[in-house]
Amino acid sequence: MPELDLPQRQATDAVMLTGFWYRALPADRVHRHRLQKATLLEIPLAIGRDRSGQAFAMRDACPHRGMPLNGGKFDGENLECPYHGWQFDVHNGQCQLIPSLTADQKLRIDRIYAGSYPCEEQDGFVWVFIPDPGPAGAGFTKPAEACEPAPVIEKFSEKYRLAYLTADMPVNVDHGIIGLMDPAHGPFVHQAWWWRTRHSIHEKQKHFEPIPNGFRMSAHTPSSNSAPYKLLRLYAEADSITTTIDFRLPNLRSETIRAGKYWFSSLTTVTPIFRNHCRIDVVAAWNIFRWVPFGPELLKFVFAKFVEQDRRTMEIQAEGLKHNPHLMLIDDADRPAKWYFQLKAAHLEAKHTGGEMKHPMSGPVTLKWRS
Ligand code: FES
Ligand SMILES: [Fe+2]
Repeated sequence: MPELDLPQRQATDAVMLTGFWYRALPADRVHRHRLQKATLLEIPLAIGRDRSGQAFAMRDACPHRGMPLNGGKFDGENLECPYHGWQFDVHNGQCQLIPSLTADQKLRIDRIYAGSYPCEEQDGFVWVFIPDPGPAGAGFTKPAEACEPAPVIEKFSEKYRLAYLTADMPVNVDHGIIGLMDPAHGPFVHQAWWWRTRHSIHEKQKHFEPIPNGFRMSAHTPSSNSAPYKLLRLYAEADSITTTIDFRLPNLRSETIRAGKYWFSSLTTVTPIFRNHCRIDVVAAWNIFRWVPFGPELLKFVFAKFVEQDRRTMEIQAEGLKHNPHLMLIDDADRPAKWYFQLKAAHLEAKHTGGEMKHPMSGPVTLKWRS
């Protein structure tokens, strides 16, 4: 039987990918003298800044008896566990002191490590690298190293503004991500008089191409049925506005809009917190409306509205997902979601076999849908 027109059953696997950088906390919430709790991929973390302001991330559990470390005394360099006072270097987790040891007890404390993670600050967020889990029984290991620097937002001029938005969503990371790349929900979820109405639905055609670890919606002129784009074209006095949207594993959606010398760039991530909980963080940089006093607020308002509409939708969707319904993906509107699952599977397969990752797309593809 031809597979033509048959919707495809697709269950999300909710697998959380290790070996990648993840956004942990907005940088303005991480302070010098107080540790912040955060969770990434079900790993409890204690995040703070050392004396010089550099961010660090430790597993929020003492290697002695599992006591959370976030409430411990911190001198700007070493963190003291509140239970028996063991002290750890916050950057590599190495044990510095065990107060109960007597002078003649020769325990090699330098071989003891509390969990610690590579940590970087980028575009207003503290990023933490979550390595692949080590072999079972390896308890006293040094922190893993990240294989690459944390992702950055692409910028096209020296001066720009930066803002972020964040929202928790009670669904697994897969639903968060496929919701992000789903073109068909727009007219139903994101209605607003200043954006577009349901009656503006029309047929669209977009070109996609494979990129390492993901896919790109090739540079195109954004749909003319939205008022802000019309405004932007007028303002920038640009003949053309082009938008490029990339998705890359594990969870990165970057979008750039360029109109003459003006640009807008965003990096959105959907981060797995628990198996059934994720968080969306949108960070945007732009040089459009930079000197208009209410420009950033307006932009933030528009984005906040979108994010809230998505968050609310997923909150309601979570109700439906509680009972494990069968789900399906259809062509072409859900093809990006299919690629996401295929990329994830290919990534895991390559890791498993140690071979190269086989990209699910063999070349450029044109998709059509109505939205
Ligand atoms: S539990 Fe941390 S020092 Fe004992
Ligand atoms: Fe949306």
